[in-house]
Amino acid sequence: MTQNPVLSINDLSIEFPVYKGAVKALNGVSLHVNEGEIVGVVGESGSGKSVTSMMAMKLLPEGSYRVTQGDISILGTDIIHASEKTMRTLRGGDVAMIFQEPMTALNPTRKIGIQMTDVIRLHRRLDNDAARQLAISLLKDMHIADPESTLQRYPFELSGGMRQRVLIALAFSCNPRLIIADEPTTALDVTVQKQVLMLLKAKARELKTAILFITHDMAVVSQFCDRVYVMYAGSLVEAGSTRQVLHAPRHPYTRGLMAALPELATPGSQLQAIPGNVPDLSRLPAGCAFASRCPSRSDKCNQKPVLTSIHEATTHQVACWHPALQEELAV
Ligand SMILES: Nc1ncnc2c1ncn2[C@@H]1O[C@H](COP(=O)(O)OP(=O)(O)OP(=O)(O)O)[C@@H](O)[C@H]1O
Ligand SMILES: [Mg+2]
Repeated sequence: MTQNPVLSINDLSIEFPVYKGAVKALNGVSLHVNEGEIVGVVGESGSGKSVTSMMAMKLLPEGSYRVTQGDISILGTDIIHASEKTMRTLRGGDVAMIFQEPMTALNPTRKIGIQMTDVIRLHRRLDNDAARQLAISLLKDMHIADPESTLQRYPFELSGGMRQRVLIALAFSCNPRLIIADEPTTALDVTVQKQVLMLLKAKARELKTAILFITHDMAVVSQFCDRVYVMYAGSLVEAGSTRQVLHAPRHPYTRGLMAALPELATPGSQLQAIPGNVPDLSRLPAGCAFASRCPSRSDKCNQKPVLTSIHEATTHQVACWHPALQEELAV
C-alpha cells in the first residue's frame, strides 16, 4: 500500500461561539488517511467525530464556527480556504459521503433510478443508458437481487439496509478516492450492519478507495478498520493499527471503551460503562480532559499530554502520562 495521504488534518482546532464563550469541539487534532486505507475515528457521543467529518468536507454552516488553528488537505486541496465551488467539485467527485440516516440523504419523492442516474450523469460524462447500466452493476455489487426493479422504486419502499446499500452504491458511482462515512450503519440491526459493512469494505478494496470511518462502536472498528484514532472531548487520545489499539490499548479511555464491549471482553471479565461524563467543552480543563474520570490520574495530568509513540519503533501512539501503568494493568 502506498503512503500518500488522501486526507490529512494537521493540528486542527475548531470552536463554536456560544453565549459568553466557545464550545471547543476540536483541540489540536492531527490525523491522516492514506490511499486505499480504511481508518476509523471512534469515541463516545459528543467527542467531536461528526465535527471532524463535517469539517473535512466543509459542511458546517458558514459563520457557525471558528478555525482557531490548523489545516486540512484533501488530495492537495486546502479545505479551510477552498471556495464553495471547489468544494462542490470535490464532493461527489473525488470524495463521497455516507451518513447515518439514509432516508434523509435520498429524496423521498423521486424513484431510486432517477436519483442514481442524475448523480452519475452529473459527475461522469455518461449518457442515460450508460448511467443506468452503471447503477445496475453497482447495485448488483451491493447484493441487491433485482436491481432493475429497485430502480423503479421510491426510497420508502426499501428497507433501511437496502436504502443504505443504495447510498453506498451511489457513493462509489463517481469513483471517489475517499469516502467519509459517519456512523453509516448505526441505524441498522447488527446482522444487517455486518452485511452492509462487508459489502462496503469489499468494494473499497476492489477500487482502492480510502475510507474515513466514524463510529462509536469498537466492535465495528475491529471488523472494519486498518487503523484507528480514539477521540475524547475533541482530542485524540490514542492511535495505531486496529490490532495495536484494540489488543493492547494504552489509554485508560480506550480501555474503558473496550471494557464496555460484550463482543471483545475477555471471558469472565465484567462489562462496565466508564463512570462519569464527557466534560463541558466550553470549560475544558487545561490538562488531560479525561483526568476527572481516570482511575490512574496523578498531579502530572494537570498538564495536557500529547500524542506520542509508546516506544521508538512503533506507530502506536497514546496521549497519557501513565501509559506504562496501563501496560502493567493489561498483563
Ligand atoms: N453548531 C454547534 N454549536 C455548538 N456546539 C456544537 C455545534 N455542533 C457541534 N457542537 C458540539 O461539539 C461537540 C462534538 O459534537 P459531534 O457532533 O462532533 O459529536 P460526535 O462525536 O459526532 O457525537 P455522536 O456520537 O453523538 O454523533 C458536542 O459537544 C456538540 O454539542
Ligand atoms: Mg456524530
